[in-house]
Amino acid sequence: GTVYLNGEYLGADEAKISPMDRGFLFGDGIYEVIPSYQGKMLGFGAHIERMNNGLNELEIKLDYSADTWRKICNDLCEKNQGDNLGIYLHVSRGADTKRAHGYPTNITPTVFAFAFEIPAEPKSDIDSATTYTVSLEQDRRWQRCHIKSTALLGNVIHYQHGAAAGNKETILFNRLEEITEASSSNVFIVKEGVISTPPLDNQILPGITRWLIINILHSYSDFNVQERIISKEELLDADEVWITSATKEVGPVVKVNGKLVGDGKPGAVWQQVQSLFTKHKF
Ligand code: PDD
Repeated sequence: GTVYLNGEYLGADEAKISPMDRGFLFGDGIYEVIPSYQGKMLGFGAHIERMNNGLNELEIKLDYSADTWRKICNDLCEKNQGDNLGIYLHVSRGADTKRAHGYPTNITPTVFAFAFEIPAEPKSDIDSATTYTVSLEQDRRWQRCHIKSTALLGNVIHYQHGAAAGNKETILFNRLEEITEASSSNVFIVKEGVISTPPLDNQILPGITRWLIINILHSYSDFNVQERIISKEELLDADEVWITSATKEVGPVVKVNGKLVGDGKPGAVWQQVQSLFTKHKF
């Protein structure tokens, strides 16, 4: 496929970056993943805003406007074709001449982007939905999970623990046994009709899908949505559990550590929420 690197469009195997790039040496960078269906991006503005927040927090100075990013994303969709594409954006602090921890001054950020195939838009049908079995374990990542850093080793290890147990995701809880998020998703539970998700703080990524879901549900008065601390016990006792991300949308979890969630099928609230999401997401 065709990728974007520092202002140029190149074949993926022609694109080269320096091994002295701080993204390579330190994981010193920020990334985003934006879904695009039939050429229409989902949550574009919110994804760019979150990336800019991350860049500001890391003091990486990059003068790309939202319009510049939009053009890069549209170009990549056009050059790579496909109805269902994820667009990966990556900004690292750049390449230095030496390896030193401190932020160097006067280096230019490295900007890389590519498009990749993703599954078709999730459906809200109970019998044909993509469902998720998950592991549950203690969150051993760092204290800055609100930054969408390219340094994902902690997340990767958690994901792999789930995969080794035959699961598709790993849900995490902190040392107080409060649910944080999953290795690459946010978490929601439903109990007796009440929809809950952990509050935004340094322990979780402020997911764009999470934000879209909450906004959509707030626009209907018939949902009780709470951003609050959720204990591990509550998750294990929930009627429904969902994991959310750009490509999963509202992903129904049917098993946690081998134990069925509810009757082991996507729930009735899930079906309502995924269909409202489908209706209002763009
Ligand atoms: N992951 N939490 C973590 C740790 C994530 O990595 C992601 C997304 C989310 C969900 O965020 P959003 O709704 O904005 O996609 C939550 C992306 C898709 C990835 O790493 O591939």
